[in-house]
Amino acid sequence: MRIPFNQPYLTGKELDYIKQAHQQRHLSGDGPFTKLCNGWLEKNTGAQKALLTHSCTAALEMAAILIGTHPGDEIIMPSYTFVSTANAFVLQGGAPVFVDIRPDTLNIDEKKIEAAITPKTKAIAIVHYAGVACEMDTIMAIAKKHNLIVIEDAAQAIGSTYKGKPLGSFGQLAALSFHETKNIISGEGGALLINDDRYIEDAVIIREKGTNRSKFLKGQVDKYTWVEMGSSYLPSDLIAAFLWAQLENYDTIMATRKAIWDKYHQGFAEAEKKGRIIRPSIPDECGPNAHLYYLLIPTAAQRDRLLPALQKDGIGAIFHYIPLHDSPGGLRYGRAHGAMTLTNDLSARLIRLPFWIGLSEFQDEVIGQVLSHVERSAKEA
Ligand SMILES: Cc1ncc(COP(=O)(O)O)c(C=O)c1O
Repeated sequence: MRIPFNQPYLTGKELDYIKQAHQQRHLSGDGPFTKLCNGWLEKNTGAQKALLTHSCTAALEMAAILIGTHPGDEIIMPSYTFVSTANAFVLQGGAPVFVDIRPDTLNIDEKKIEAAITPKTKAIAIVHYAGVACEMDTIMAIAKKHNLIVIEDAAQAIGSTYKGKPLGSFGQLAALSFHETKNIISGEGGALLINDDRYIEDAVIIREKGTNRSKFLKGQVDKYTWVEMGSSYLPSDLIAAFLWAQLENYDTIMATRKAIWDKYHQGFAEAEKKGRIIRPSIPDECGPNAHLYYLLIPTAAQRDRLLPALQKDGIGAIFHYIPLHDSPGGLRYGRAHGAMTLTNDLSARLIRLPFWIGLSEFQDEVIGQVLSHVERSAKEA
C-alpha cells in the first residue's frame, strides 16, 4: 500500500535503550526500564499503581481475575469494541452483556446501562472509543448506586481526559495498549492501571505467575511460593526499554498526532455541511488524544464501495470493529441487552483513515481522494 494505514513511529532512541538494558543485564521483567515506565504512567495518569503488561489484552485478563469474575457473572460492555474487552472475562467464566452505543461518540450509551443490570451483574467494562471519553459522571454514579466495579478499556485512550481528568483514573481498574497502532508503542504492550489500593497486592501476585516473588525480591519473605491463581503478564525489560524511548517523546508524539487529526477534521468540514459524510463529534467535556480518525459514510453500501476504491488509489483505509453481539463468540458466551440498532448501523458505515506520524505529506491526497469518491457516490445515488 502506497499510503499505509499505519506506520509505527520510532523516536530514534529505542535501540539505544534496548542496548542499555542489555548492558545492564536485566532482561526479564520489572527491571530498571519497567520501573521508569510504571512511574511515568502513575505520574501522568494519576493511577495509584501502574503495571506494565504484555498487552492491553493481558491487562484486561488481569482485571477479570482481580475482580473475582466467577462463572455466570455478567459484565456490561459495548458490542462495538475489540474482542479482548469481552474475551478477558469469558476466560474466567463471565458473560458479556452487550449494550448499544451513542450515535455521537460510538461509546456505550450510558442511558442504557441501568436497564441491563441484573442480580448477576459484576462490573461495567467501558471502552473509550477513539480516545474520546465515555460519559464518566453518569457511569460512575450508576456503578456506585448498584455497587458495581468499573473497568476502563482505555486501549486507545492514553493521554485523553474527561473534564480535565485523565482517562484510566476513573474506574477501579483500567487497561492501556502500546500495540504498534497506538499513540505510544512497544510493538505489543500494555499496562494495568489500579485506582483502588485493595487490588494492588493481588495484581502484583497475579502478574508474577501467582507467586509472591515480588515480596521475595524486596526481602519481605525469605522464599517465594505459589499463593493464588495467576499467569505471566509482565513484559521483558527490553520491551520496557523500547517503550521508555516513546514515553520520553510523549509530548512531541501527541502534538504531531493532534496536527494530523485537526487537518483531517478541517479537510472534511465542508463535506459534512453538504451531508456527504459525518465527522467524529467530541463532547465539550472530552479531551481526546488524536488516536484515530474515522468518518461515517451515508450508507453501508457506499462505505463498502469506498474502501476498495481507496485501496485501489493506494490508500490503506480500513473499517472496524465487527460488533461482538452477533459474532460466533458473542452468541456463544454473551447476550445483547436490547436492540443493537446503532452498533449495527454505525459499524457498517465507518471507515478509518491512515493515521501515523509522517502522514502529513500524503494527507492532502487522502482527503482529496475521499472527497472525490464521496462526491461521485452522492451523484450516483
Ligand atoms: C478497545 C480495545 N481493547 C483492547 C484491545 C487489545 O489491545 P492489545 O492489542 O494491546 O492487546 C484493542 C486493540 O486494538 C482495543 O481496540
